[in-house]
Amino acid sequence: MKFDIFDFEEKDNFDKYIKSASENISQLLKKTGKGNNFLGWLDLPFNYNKESLVDICKTAIKFQRFDIVIVIGIGGSYLGSKAVIEALKPQFGILKPEIIFAGHTLSEDYYSELIDYLKDKSFGLVIISKSGTTTEPAIAFRILLNELKKSVPKEKLAERVVTITDSSKGALKTISVNENYKSYIIPDDVGGRFSVLTPVGLLPIAIAGFDISALLNGAVDARQMCAKYNENNLAVYYAAFRNLMYKSGKKIELLINFNLRLNFIAEWWKQLFGESEGKELKGIFPASASFTTDLHSLGQYIQQGERHLFETAIVVENNSKLRIEIPFDENNLDELNYISLKNIEFINQKAREGTLKAHLDGGVPNCKISIEKLDEYNIGYLLYFFEFACAISGYMLEINPFDQPGVENYKKNMFELLGKK
Ligand code: PA5
Repeated sequence: MKFDIFDFEEKDNFDKYIKSASENISQLLKKTGKGNNFLGWLDLPFNYNKESLVDICKTAIKFQRFDIVIVIGIGGSYLGSKAVIEALKPQFGILKPEIIFAGHTLSEDYYSELIDYLKDKSFGLVIISKSGTTTEPAIAFRILLNELKKSVPKEKLAERVVTITDSSKGALKTISVNENYKSYIIPDDVGGRFSVLTPVGLLPIAIAGFDISALLNGAVDARQMCAKYNENNLAVYYAAFRNLMYKSGKKIELLINFNLRLNFIAEWWKQLFGESEGKELKGIFPASASFTTDLHSLGQYIQQGERHLFETAIVVENNSKLRIEIPFDENNLDELNYISLKNIEFINQKAREGTLKAHLDGGVPNCKISIEKLDEYNIGYLLYFFEFACAISGYMLEINPFDQPGVENYKKNMFELLGKK
């Protein structure tokens, strides 16, 4: 992984921020900072023994025999696996088994179409909820289990359902024990948005056919890089840059990519940073854009709108396996011969360079995180890097990056309106 910052005005201050970011590493690693009872994610990549990985893979293989596996969860209980699967799966056609997510919406349309789609197909359910009480996934589970019961005899249901939840509490735990479902535990000290490297992320990713050992290996290497107190620690640079931007009035960070596969990594990142930092009336607002697509929608604002933005670009160095050249055309009616025999990736690179320079010139500072390629190892590295940088950034803002007290407010109102006792 590489981290670059393009020329920016606040350079003089940067050393101060680097120093502050480095000091916060100690706090994190010594577990003396705010929310220190939620730091289980720090050592997760090292803590896997071979047996637990083999067990996850065995369950994955059992579920791969179904046409569809429905992963039910919301927030941190689905975004990590969705992000990894979207980054790695073919962009056309359907995986076998097809992975469908549910429990992340209350859209009735979604469920009526899903129930229709499930007709005459075999399917299994992976229900994920750390608290075991979240309304959206609980509703989805009840509805989809009801569908499953229509085609699967009662004594066979346990072969179709896996639960991932707390070790001892919550309704989902009670259901798992009562119904004898295969169950995995989310460690007490790992919060939802930091749980992608627990069974929460690993089981769905393994069912989709991807290499979870390589994902964890990437995270192990990122952990080693992030724990260093030297200039090779890219998490320090990223956290320092973000905080410097924030203090200089850049309140919105746009995570940008030039590859549609990364769109759900951005969704995962938005939850990670938004829920970790947005509290006590502080925090950078995390937003995202995919270029060049969004240059034709958000591009105008980014270039000339209010100057409260900075950008972080994720760049995949070796993007595509197959180079596609623009064919030469004798008539050249579309006037594209000036790029004939150049490949699309080359043109995308030039679009990227041109965009970042234009935005910088227009008052949008930017930095770039480059990974070598999109595979399990590099994605594991990237996810862990973001988690670590998020924790340091949160400490620099002097908030607790590991709680989410504000999430309860909408639930309270909704329960009152629904008459929950
Ligand atoms: O990061 C978090 O803690 C939240 O976003 C949760 O992941 C989300 O609210 C889902 O909670 P649960 O897994 O308890 O159903």
